Amino acid sequence: MEKIRLGDSDVEVSALCLGTDLIGSKIDRETSFGLLDLFRENGGSFIDTGNFYAAWLPGCHGGESESTIGLWLKARACRDEMVVATKIGFDYPGCDGGLSGAEIERECEKSLRRLQTDRLDLYYAHRDDEKTPVEETMEAFDKLIRAGKVRAIGASNLKVWRIAEANTVSRKCGWAGYSVVEQRHTYLRPRHGADFGPQVCINPDLEGYSKRHGVTLIAYSVLLQGAYTRQDRALPPQYAGPESVERMRALEGVARELGATPNQVIIAWMRQSDPAVLPIIAGSRPEQLAENLAALGVTLTAGQMMCLNTAGNPVIEQAWLR
Ligand SMILES: NC(=O)c1ccc[n+]([C@@H]2O[C@H](COP(=O)([O-])OP(=O)(O)OC[C@H]3O[C@@H](n4cnc5c(N)ncnc54)[C@H](OP(=O)(O)O)[C@@H]3O)[C@@H](O)[C@H]2O)c1
Repeated sequence: MEKIRLGDSDVEVSALCLGTDLIGSKIDRETSFGLLDLFRENGGSFIDTGNFYAAWLPGCHGGESESTIGLWLKARACRDEMVVATKIGFDYPGCDGGLSGAEIERECEKSLRRLQTDRLDLYYAHRDDEKTPVEETMEAFDKLIRAGKVRAIGASNLKVWRIAEANTVSRKCGWAGYSVVEQRHTYLRPRHGADFGPQVCINPDLEGYSKRHGVTLIAYSVLLQGAYTRQDRALPPQYAGPESVERMRALEGVARELGATPNQVIIAWMRQSDPAVLPIIAGSRPEQLAENLAALGVTLTAGQMMCLNTAGNPVIEQAWLR
C-alpha cells in the first residue's frame, strides 16, 4: 500500500488507516484479529485507537480496543511493522479526562501498557481542554517525545485557531507541534450550524491551514456508518437538505461510471482532494473492510472530481456579482 509521511514528522503510514473503536468490545476478539489480519495482509500499517474506546458501551470500561490491539501485535509479532495512533482527552473510569500535564503522563503509561509496547507512533489530543494552559499541554507532549515514548503528536476535534495557537507556542518554545489533525469528514457536507457534540468537522479554514503548514489531515466517520449504501441506516439529520440530494446523485452517477461502490468513490475522492485527506476505514465484517480496502484501486478523473466537488453548490446569479 502507498506510504504517506505524517506532516513534518518522520512517521510513515499506509494510505488508509484502520479504525478500531469497537475492536475487542462490540466486535469479539476472534473477529477483531481477523479484521486486523486482513488490513495487514493488504499492506495496511496505520491503526487508529483511543484510550477510552469503548467506554460508552454497556459492560465496557475503556481500554478494550488498545488491549486487543496489544494482544494482536504480540500474537503476530508485528509491532515494528505497524504504526499505532492512540488518543487522550475524554474521561472514562479511572481517568478524569482533559489535557493536563499529569493526565498526559499518566494516560500515556496506561496506553503503552495496554498496547504492550514501549512507544506510541502518534499520540493525539482527542478533544480540547480550555481549562489547561496550552503551554502545559504542549510541554507535556514534548517531554514524551524527548523520552522516546511518543514519535509524533496530533490534534483531534480542536478548532483550527486552537491548533494554530498550540503550534505557535510550541515553535516559540522549541517543542514539537501537532503534525496531524483528525476530524470528522465525509462527502456530504454538514448543514450550517449542525451539532456533532464534541466532534469537529474538517472545514475550509482547516484545509487552508493544512496546505500552508504541511499538517496531514485524517478523516473519521467517512462512510456515515454505511448509510450511503445501506437500507437499514438513515443518513444523519445533520446532513439532510436539498444540497445532499444533489450530492448523492453525483456520487451515485460517478460510482456507476466507474463500476465502483459509492463507499469506494468517497474514499478515492478524499485521497485525491486538495489537500489530500487520509481516510480512516472501518468495518465489523471482513466483506465491509475488503470493499473499503479495494477503494485503493479506484481513480477518479479530473472531470469526476469536478462533478463531485461542485454538486450541490449554489448557482451564483451574474446580476448579484455586478
Ligand atoms: N477522533 C475522533 O473523535 C473519532 C470519532 C469517531 C471515530 N473515530 C475513529 O474512526 C473510526 C471509524 O469511525 P466510524 O465508525 O464513525 O466510521 P464509519 O466509516 O462512519 O462507520 C463504520 C461502520 O460503518 C459500517 N460500514 C463500514 N464499511 C461498510 C461498507 N463497506 N458497507 C456497509 N457498511 C459499512 C459498519 O457498521 P456495522 O458495524 O454496524 O455494520 C462499520 O462499523 C473509529 O473506529 C475510530 O478509530 C475517531
